[in-house]
Order: sequence, then structure tokens, then C-alpha cells
Amino acid sequence: MTKKRVAILISGRGSNMATLIEAARAPDYPADIALVISNVPNAAGLERARAAGVKTVVLDHKPFGKDRVAFEAALQAILDEHCIALICLAGFMRLFTAAFVQRWSQRILNIHPSLLPLFPGLDPHGQALRAGAKTSGATVHFVIPETDAGPIIAQDSVPVLPGDTPDSLAARVLEAEHRIYPIALKQVIEGKS
Ligand code: GAR
Repeated sequence: MTKKRVAILISGRGSNMATLIEAARAPDYPADIALVISNVPNAAGLERARAAGVKTVVLDHKPFGKDRVAFEAALQAILDEHCIALICLAGFMRLFTAAFVQRWSQRILNIHPSLLPLFPGLDPHGQALRAGAKTSGATVHFVIPETDAGPIIAQDSVPVLPGDTPDSLAARVLEAEHRIYPIALKQVIEGKS
């Protein structure tokens, strides 16, 4: 089996990244986590990736200002250099241009902490609580130019409990995220999605 070379893009603590790295340790897992890229120089996930023996690259977005095209050109160069076949976004808090997304069509996955199409964008847990939802969950989907709107690959739901705060709900949803992301990536590579 030739494993697909995957880059994980992060901006923060990297717990989803860690579950993908862990899953990819299995000899029969079809992905090799070749690289972790962070747009935030001090993201906690970077240290986690290094500790797991995964190569990391920092691509700080700040020097690029509002020039997303230049940021993406630099990103593309890193991805090319490492022969990356698939991108997994894992708490990566930057939006891409339509051109970049189209270039990577069907080859960028994202995880979002709600049952899309419900509660896209920012503060999904606050949105779920304000809507009085009885259930929330996590979604892995392909990235398309419209934010959080691409074809769904996997979802898992969790209950919203009385007294939940955005933080308590986020913690429960995060467990669902960790369950589904490795499965979704495997499905995509094996052509079951
Ligand atoms: C996760 O809950 C992920 O779903 C969310 O950020 C968190 C990152 O946590 N992503 C988004 O909200 C994307 N719009 P992690 O760094 O521990 O994986």
C-alpha cells in the first residue's frame, strides 16, 4: 500500500491533529502525516507534532497582511516541496481564496464543531445553545469556496445537556471530532467518500 502524504494545517492546540497522527501510526492506515503547518508561530500543536516526530513548518500569515494570494503561494510551495497529496484542516482559522480551494478540489478536508449545515462559521456552540438545540456534533467535510458548506464526509452527534455552556458543549463535541476525523480521512483515501 502506498500511503497518501497528508499535511495537517493548524492554528492552535492541535488535538484533532494529534488524533490523526496517532491513527496514522497503524501500519494499515492509508495516510502518512508528512507535515504539520501552522500559521501561528507559537501554536501549542507545533510542540505536540514535534514530540510525535512529525515535521513542522510555521507559515506566519501576518507578514502577508491582507495578501491572501501571496500567503497561499508560499503555502503551495511548501506543499509541493513535501509532495503533499491531501490537506487536513484541524482548527486552522484562516479562509482560503476560491482559486486555492479549486486547485485542491476534493483534496482539502475540514472539521467543524457542529452538525453542518447547522451553525457554520464562528461560535458554533454558542449558536447551538442560543437556538435551543437538543443535539449537536461534529462534521468532516470537503472544503469548497463557501465556508463550512462542502460535501459532508462524516458526522457524529452528541446531546446538548441542561446547563451546558459553550465550553462544556465544546468538550463533548471535541470527543466526537476525535472519533470521526481519522475515519473520514481513511474513507476519503480509500475512495469510500
Ligand atoms: C476544533 O473544535 C475544530 O473543530 C475547530 O477548532 C477546534 C480546534 O481544536 N475548528 C473550527 O472551528 C473551524 N472553523 P484542536 O486544535 O484541538 O483540534
